[in-house]
Amino acid sequence: MKFFIDTASLEQIREAHSLGVLDGVTTNPSLMAKEGISGDERVLQHYIDICEIVDGDVSAEVIATDLEGMLHEGDKLAALHANIVVKVPMTRDGVKAIRQFTAKGIRTNCTLIFSAGQALLAAKAGATYVSPFIGRLDDISTDGLALIEQIREIYDNYGIGTQVLAASIRHPMHIVQCAELGADVATCPLSAILALFDHPLTTIGLEKFLADHRKAEQTPVKAK
Ligand code: E4P
Repeated sequence: MKFFIDTASLEQIREAHSLGVLDGVTTNPSLMAKEGISGDERVLQHYIDICEIVDGDVSAEVIATDLEGMLHEGDKLAALHANIVVKVPMTRDGVKAIRQFTAKGIRTNCTLIFSAGQALLAAKAGATYVSPFIGRLDDISTDGLALIEQIREIYDNYGIGTQVLAASIRHPMHIVQCAELGADVATCPLSAILALFDHPLTTIGLEKFLADHRKAEQTPVKAK
């Protein structure tokens, strides 16, 4: 399973990249706003900056909601860098835009997926990725992981190549469970990726190894 980081923070992207396990980045308008990135020029430059840090797919979302606007913005985003994937919302015009982007060889990520039917539509239009938001489903007492399982099964039934990009990840177990269910990608907050490193037995075990090593170093070598 590929690991993407779900942020527009260059600092966090650099930190995740430095771990050596990062495969890509997803952003959305809320994440860009959180970093204070606004205005056409700054937004476009920010995507280029991200592409210069990570050699992997970078999802950049359109703001327009009408077909013509999405096509115009998507073309501009895709022209920025070969790794840009145009993120398009799951709407009727969004699906039409995905079909047209696909025909032109522009890769897409269909976002705001909350049902298997939506995932099927996006795949039929040729989406490169679909983004089911599991955390937001969990938030309303619905099983987000069940959606990953359902989409996986449907795509496998028909050999559909659209990649399942599990989004709205809230914690490290979401990542592990998505991997068990066969998601192709999980896009995660940095905190969830970092939490995967931790286990109390690893910490205790390392302390013991180092303490034993120090003891051995301090013990005089016995003469033979
Ligand atoms: C996915 O691409 C979205 O940016 C993201 O995962 C949404 O997560 P949230 O529900 O934490 O906002």
